[in-house]
Amino acid sequence: MPQILLSEGPDQGVRLLTLNRPEALNALNTALLEALSSELDTAEADPETRAVVITGSERAFAAGADINEMAARDLVGMLEDPRIKHWARIARFTKPLITAVNGFCLGGGCELAMHGDIMVAGTNARFGQPEINLGIMPGAGGTQRLVRAVGQSLAMQMVLTGEPISAQRALEAGLVSEICQPELTIERAVAIARTIASKGPIAVRLAREAVQRAEDMDLAAGLRFERHAFTILAATDDRREGLEAFRNKRKPRFSGR
Ligand code: HXC
Repeated sequence: MPQILLSEGPDQGVRLLTLNRPEALNALNTALLEALSSELDTAEADPETRAVVITGSERAFAAGADINEMAARDLVGMLEDPRIKHWARIARFTKPLITAVNGFCLGGGCELAMHGDIMVAGTNARFGQPEINLGIMPGAGGTQRLVRAVGQSLAMQMVLTGEPISAQRALEAGLVSEICQPELTIERAVAIARTIASKGPIAVRLAREAVQRAEDMDLAAGLRFERHAFTILAATDDRREGLEAFRNKRKPRFSGR
């Protein structure tokens, strides 16, 4: 049986994970989410991995949760669904995560893409939360992360009508950071990931956490967190190296200490 998740790297600090269930448009079944969560464990533990890119195929990033699997679960089955712990694992990944989206990015697929700290999309991408057409609703962040990304009006329209939006619209709304030709999406996401991977990892980690906290904290608490994180960096070798390299007009060599 072909592997449902392909893993490459790390190359120049970047690990590339490719969802590979083409027969089901990368629908997220338990096996695929389990494989993804296990790869993230590996990436987390590996000091050579500084950033991860998750992608799918040119036709589909992922067309949602696996509907056949979902249909087999009743209320108790949903409560005990092992996929819940895999979603939680993806959400608590501590390294920069970039999602590279082409084609259908629907339901759980869109929710997975929104777990990316940065999302890059091909011009052929279609983003949607079509769960309402199945008599259900989003369950992995589609009502929460989408609102924070695009605002209430567009999020409400997508969740209640189930109608998808184009890559261009997603760009205008702030759901994705960039769009490019579909054949360049992965290359572009990897290039961004490599740029991040070349920076001081402690600074990256704290800066990422500070930006993430902007969504959960009020401004005063967020600013306090930022100031503490900024101050902590004064204890790192990488800060000394970064400042010295600038003053000596050379490239910094960050050690992660
Ligand atoms: C299981 C799926 C699937 C899915 C597509 N397939 N989406 N299988 N779960 N989510 C399968 C189809 O059954 C078909 O298999 C094959 O992939 C190709 O799909 P087609 O429909 O033939 O392709 P096309 O006509 O191009 O239409 C593409 C599509 C459509 C518009 C994306 O497949 C579609 O509407 N899919 C469902 C999208 C959706 O509702 N997603 C939300 C799921 S609920 P066969 O064997 O027939 O060839 C969800 C909840 C998340 O995500 C909750 C998280 C906790």
